[in-house]
Amino acid sequence: MKIELHPPITNASGPHSVTYEELERIARSAAGAVVTKSMTHCPRTGNPEPRLRAHLDGELGSLNSMGLPNLGYQEYAQLIPKLKEFGKPIIASVASATCEHKLPPPVQYHEIAVAIAQAGADALELNLSCPNLEEVPIAMDPPSVRAVLQAVTRAVNIPVGVKLSPYNNTPQLFAEVARTLLDFELAYVATINSEPLTLDIDLKTRTKVIRPGFGGLGGPAVLPIALAEVHRFYKFFQQHKSQIAVWGVGGITKPEDAIKHFFCGAAAVQIGTLFLWEGPQAFEKLWAGIQAWLTTNGFSSLEEIIGQVREL
Ligand code: DHB
Repeated sequence: MKIELHPPITNASGPHSVTYEELERIARSAAGAVVTKSMTHCPRTGNPEPRLRAHLDGELGSLNSMGLPNLGYQEYAQLIPKLKEFGKPIIASVASATCEHKLPPPVQYHEIAVAIAQAGADALELNLSCPNLEEVPIAMDPPSVRAVLQAVTRAVNIPVGVKLSPYNNTPQLFAEVARTLLDFELAYVATINSEPLTLDIDLKTRTKVIRPGFGGLGGPAVLPIALAEVHRFYKFFQQHKSQIAVWGVGGITKPEDAIKHFFCGAAAVQIGTLFLWEGPQAFEKLWAGIQAWLTTNGFSSLEEIIGQVREL
């Protein structure tokens, strides 16, 4: 099952997509869809603040360890019908985290997926890669990826995407996860989630920039990592004649960055740090810049450049 985005740009599930007000701002923007913050079985307050540094020195990017603060899936099930009134697809990001109910992750994903599909979500984005929990991300363990996908894909009939960790130093794991994905009817793979376990220091105070210390890195610093991951998945799915689309996430702060993602094979892009920096106006500006780049360079549609990076 596919999901079409017009324009092919959304927010990346992240800090300013938690509350109804934040989601409504995205729904009113030029974004092609609204992606919620990853919702969990139980509501979560998240990690102690400060837990987000939007601007790292030199505008290298942003660093956060939010700890999945969210309203809990039952609250999102209530909000979704209202959000749908803005006429764009609502993509519900879903994650698992240990809570008082002690349900195994596949059971959590299943329960949330069924309720959220029932509430009218247009697609699910399974976040298998939150870098800031005690647990090792599911995306790092192929059998766990399989268990979650089995639990969810059989239970819903809306498009399902997965959000993955970067596998830039683990080629074997990349191959095992990619092969696992082929066994399921997925709409898309969103890659990459933030670069995990990164750190920055404020030299004025000589402290870490966020209270949890380590966090997920996004923004310009991760662009080359994201491009490589997008391209590897794109080539892999092509080789295996899979219909799974790749959505590029990571390092897009200007139109040229998005254009690079498209050349590497992205069918759509998501913005995290840029959305933090510029708010909802970022979508319109980025889309205008992408269209201007295409026109200036003699292309009449975006489809003409998807996956068209040349070998040297
Ligand atoms: C959080 C979750 C993520 O998936 C991510 O990339 C960064 C932060 C979080 O809520 O901690």
